[in-house]
Amino acid sequence: MQIVVDLNRCQGYAQCAFLAPQVFELHGEEALMFTPAVPDDQRERVRRAAAACPVQAIVVGER
Ligand code: F3S
Repeated sequence: MQIVVDLNRCQGYAQCAFLAPQVFELHGEEALMFTPAVPDDQRERVRRAAAACPVQAIVVGER
């Protein structure tokens, strides 16, 4: 699983960091760090995080 976050769209809502803290980390209000290649055991969390983002900034791709 791969993820892309549209950082122009991201508004720092932090739902992703709350739901999948091993993949998303927020520094300050809008500096989002993330792991593009998602470990298998984090897939479900990342799916939930993508669905929870209020501005749909997270795009999940399967590989
Ligand atoms: Fe940004 Fe959405 Fe996460 S706005 S901080 S990608 S929940």
